[in-house]
Order: sequence, then C-alpha cells, then structure tokens
Amino acid sequence: MTTTATDKPQTTDAPKGDVILIRGGRPLNGQVDVKGAKNLATKAMVATLLGETASTLRDVPGISDVDVVRSLLEVHGVKVTEGDEPGSLVFDPSDVESAHFEEIDAHAGASRIPILFCGPLLHRLGQAFIPDLGGCRIGDRPIGFHLDALRKFGAIVEKGEQGLRLSAPNGLRGATIHLPYPSVGATEQVLLTAVRAEGTTELRNAAIEPEIMDLIGVLQKMGAIISYEPNRVILIEGVPSLRGFDHRSIFDRNEAASWACAALATDGEIFVKGARQYEMLAFLNVFRKAGGWFDVREDGILFRRETTPLKPVVVETDVHPGFMTDWQQPLIVALTQANGRSVVHETVYENRLGFTEALNKMGANIVVHPHGLQDGPRRVPRRDLEQAAEIFGPTPLHGANIEVPDLRGGYSHVIAALTAEGESTVSGITILSRGYENFFDKLRALGADFDVIG
Ligand code: EPU
Repeated sequence: MTTTATDKPQTTDAPKGDVILIRGGRPLNGQVDVKGAKNLATKAMVATLLGETASTLRDVPGISDVDVVRSLLEVHGVKVTEGDEPGSLVFDPSDVESAHFEEIDAHAGASRIPILFCGPLLHRLGQAFIPDLGGCRIGDRPIGFHLDALRKFGAIVEKGEQGLRLSAPNGLRGATIHLPYPSVGATEQVLLTAVRAEGTTELRNAAIEPEIMDLIGVLQKMGAIISYEPNRVILIEGVPSLRGFDHRSIFDRNEAASWACAALATDGEIFVKGARQYEMLAFLNVFRKAGGWFDVREDGILFRRETTPLKPVVVETDVHPGFMTDWQQPLIVALTQANGRSVVHETVYENRLGFTEALNKMGANIVVHPHGLQDGPRRVPRRDLEQAAEIFGPTPLHGANIEVPDLRGGYSHVIAALTAEGESTVSGITILSRGYENFFDKLRALGADFDVIG
C-alpha cells in the first residue's frame, strides 16, 4: 500500500537546518513536557503487526525514529492513521503483506528497529527481510543474540549481500533461551516472537527495563500470557492469535534525565512534566549525590542545584535497575562543574565516551581510559569493554565549534554549549530529532539563546 507524505504527523519542530549557533552562559529555567518513551513506542508499534485487529498507541513522541518505524509498517501494509487525541496513532494490520527488500531498505534509515520485525513477520508471512542495521555510532552493536534466539524458535537465517533473509518453513516453536547478557533488544525480540510461537518459552537473563515491562503490558492487552519470575526469568505461553491493544506509552525517562542534567549543568531550574520517580530511582540517587535537588510532584519532577559547585561522584552504567548508559553523557557535562574528580565507568557500550573530546575543546578536563580504570572493586565484572572517564572540575567552559556524534552525545554537546560562556556552533544537530520531540521549541521555552544558522 502507499501513503503520501502529508498523511504523516510531522515533528512540529524538526530541525530545519543542521547547524545552530548557541550563545551560552545563562541558566535554563522553565518547564518541559516529556511524552511517551522512544524505546517503548517504537517497539509497541512493531507489536501491532501481531494483532488481528487495530491497535491504538497514545503519547507517541513526534520523533524521527517513530517516523522510520511507521514507514516500515506501512511498506508491509499496516494502515496508520491519527487517533482520537493528539499524539495517538491507530495501526490497522489487516492487510499485512510482504514488502520488497528495496522498499524496506529505503525506509529503514539509520535505525536498528528493523531487526525487531523478524518474529512478527515470520508469524504473519513466514518470511522477513532485514537490511543492514544502523543506529547511533556508540559501538559495534552486534545482533548475534537476536539471531541465536530466532534460530532457537526454528527460524532459518540466511545472510545475503544486502542484509538478512529469514524464513520459518515449519512455523515457530517455544524454546528455552539464555541470553549471554540482559540485552534490551534481544529480550524484546524474544517477547515479540514467543507470544505467538507454539508452546512455552523460558527466557533467562532477560532485560527488565521499565520499557520492557511496558511492552509486556502491551502484549498482555493483546491476549499474550507472560509471567515475570524472579532472577530475570520471563515465561511466555504462546497463543494462536492476538488482538489489537489500546495503550498509553510509559514516559521517556531518558529525556527526563537529559533535562534534569541540563538544569544541573546550567544552574537553572527545570520542571519535567510527565517524569516519574519510580523508573528514575538510580538516576535520582546520583543526581542528589552530585549536588542536585529535586522535588517529586504528582505530575512531574522539579530539578535544580542544591550546591554550587557541584559534588564529584563515581558512577557505573548498568542494565536496569542500575544507572542507564543513556544518562551518563548529559551527567558528564554537569560533572565538569563539580568540585573534584568524578569517574564514570561505561559498561554497556564500547564507545560511548568519545563525545567528551568536544567537551575538552570547550575547556573541560576529562581523561578517557579506553580499557577502563581499575580503581576499586568492580560490581559488574561481565565485560572487557569497559571504558572510564575521569572528570576533573570545576572547569569553566567556553564556546567552540563542535560536531554531534550521536543522539545522547549530541544532546550533551548542546547542554555544554549552553553552559559555556560565549558562542558555540553545533553541527549535525538533526540527529537529535531521532529522540527529542520539539527540541528547539523546548530549548526556547527554557530561555536558551540560539539561532538555526545552517
Ligand atoms: N549486544 C550484543 N549482541 C546482541 C545485542 C546486544 O553483544 O545481539 C550488546 C551490545 O553491543 C551492547 C549491549 O549488548 O554492548 C547492550 O545492548 P542492548 O541490546 O541492551 O541495547 P539495544 O537494544 O541495542 C536499547 C536502546 C538504547 C539503550 C540500550 C540500553 C532502543 C532502540 N535502544 O538498545 O538506547 O542505550 O537499550 O538500555 O531501545 C538511545 O536511546 O539513545 C539508545 C541508544
């Protein structure tokens, strides 16, 4: 089926240019509203493929990753229309059909989401094509866990020049799957495949991020039988068919933490409407230890500093319920304003500290240890690929010309430029539309002084 560009909700403030000029050195004050989580909405959209009837998703963020998944659903025949309230979308999967590789490739963009189409497409069509995957440049981002799990369900995976061709001539059957690491994407892959596989699936060492729990809620609304057992075990009893769902997405805790760090770094005060405490416990502890103050209210959380300068902290990124990898980048900007030596250990991705080079260009004093920093006992011994950043502060920041490397790193560059005295140009800013809705509008509402210049 076809869709015209005008059918699509536009991100209301999608960056028109790719370069902004920021005049920094003033605090960000005001309110931002956070909507549904990128990392739930995009997955719940894939789940709509599994239903026999239409699904409604609410609080869908206006971000380009959502546009990518929408296009991919549309090339497979899902009809997507506006729902009964702003930010809601209705997905009608009754005419799902095979799409040509070229169409899928053209719509996949830089996203990694296509890999999650495998299970649902194998159930619906008996086959799936997955183009070579993109995503943020923060490490190798392999898909071995996904493919191993799909093979256990009975899928045949063939690697071609353009990507992967999957088929399931004998259908998909439940399996026992032990993930080598509690990968978010691989857990979602298993959930989206097991719900309609024949028999029971036992998933061990599963990721238990709040977005995954919300996806389980979505699937349960569709008629799936999923139980969450102690010690990261998830049991899924396959059912022959599922119906559509009506679901309001969990809030975006990555975006909420980003704005909290912006308040901390710029010495401002930001009320993040829609943020909730429970999903951010680990973040709030570190925020407080670093000299931040917050007030949890019924409709959001207010963030500001308690002390100036801020206080140094030692943090290790981890899977949930630990401190998320996505939170460390904006936090590091604030830590350049802390009095002493902070250490951030990155244990989830191989290459997520490269963005600090730009901060050093702006006057920060950050030393990255590509092979980690063995100072003290390690709680997560799992991988060799730890990186660590030592941040020595406080260091005044000054303006510079910087290039955005990835989604969260790019956000951090913007916040650093807003913290810095003088003018900065930040290029490659369009990538932020992948995960931050109405980014420029929000910055303006908080009093940021900037112009789009390119
Ligand atoms: N990994 C493997 N093999 C696999 C899959 C993963 O080795 O088959 C490794 C990865 O290389 C990485 C680690 O496992 O080192 C964690 O990857 P995971 O699968 O948990 O992450 P993901 O599903 O690719 C999601 C989010 C990320 C977020 C991580 C961790 C989406 C679309 N992305 O990625 O979000 O950082 O979980 O919570 O849900 C972002 O929002 O900017 C972002 C990068």
